[in-house]
Amino acid sequence: MGPVYARMRQYGHNRDGNTKTCLVDALTPFEDDIILDIGTGPGMYAMDIATAAPSCRVVGIDISETFIDIAKESASSAKISNVEFALGNIESLGFADNHFSKIICAGVISVVHQRKQAINELARVLRPGGTLAVREPCRSTGAFSRFVFGLPSESRIRGLCTNAGLLGGHFSPGFMSKAEIEDLFSETAFSSVELEEHGRDILITATR
Ligand SMILES: C[S@@+](CC[C@H](N)C(=O)[O-])C[C@H]1O[C@@H](n2cnc3c(N)ncnc32)[C@H](O)[C@@H]1O
Repeated sequence: MGPVYARMRQYGHNRDGNTKTCLVDALTPFEDDIILDIGTGPGMYAMDIATAAPSCRVVGIDISETFIDIAKESASSAKISNVEFALGNIESLGFADNHFSKIICAGVISVVHQRKQAINELARVLRPGGTLAVREPCRSTGAFSRFVFGLPSESRIRGLCTNAGLLGGHFSPGFMSKAEIEDLFSETAFSSVELEEHGRDILITATR
C-alpha cells in the first residue's frame, strides 16, 4: 500500500498549488533553520522545503518504516542532501526540548490517537519564537454533515456517507471541525494560533 499511496499523494501534491504554497509560506523566510516535517509520509513537503531552502536542515519523521524507506530513496534519487528521514512517533519524539526552529505537520493530527499529547510534544521540541504550520482536512459542519453525524454510528446511510466522505475527505469521523481544532490548541504552549480555511482543509499557523 505504501508505494501506491506515495504515487497518489505525489499526484495530489503536484496539483495542490495554492494550499501547499500557503502552508510552506507560513514558515518563510527560511534562514539557517532546522525544520521538522512530522508525519512526513513519502517526504514531499520535507523535500520541497529542503530544495527551496538549501541553507536549512530538514528532518522528516514518520511512524511508518515503509514511508521512511520511500522518502529516503526519493531524496537520494533527487540528490537532495540537506534532508534526512527517520522513524518516530509524534506522541513521543526523540528530540531534546527546543531542538527545531520550525515544524510542518500535514494531515497527521487527525490520524493520531493522543492529539493533545501530539500538540504538546510539538511545542516541546519547537524553540520559543519558532513557527508551527499545520494542515488538516476540516470536517464539514454543514446541515448535511450534521444530519449524517446525527445518525447512529451503525447506520447504513452513515456508513455509506462516511466511506464516500473518506474519498472526498469531508465526512470522516476522524477529521475535526474548525472548533475542535481550535479547542485542541487551547491551553498549549503556543502563544498565537491562527486558523485559515482553504477549501476542505484548514491551515493553522502557531507561534511558540
Ligand atoms: C495523510 S498522511 C500525510 C503524509 C504527508 N505529511 C503528506 O502531506 O504527504 C499521514 C502520515 O502520518 C503518519 N503518522 C500516523 N501516525 C503517526 C504518528 N503517531 N507519528 C508519526 N507519524 C504518524 C502516517 O504514517 C502517514 O505517513
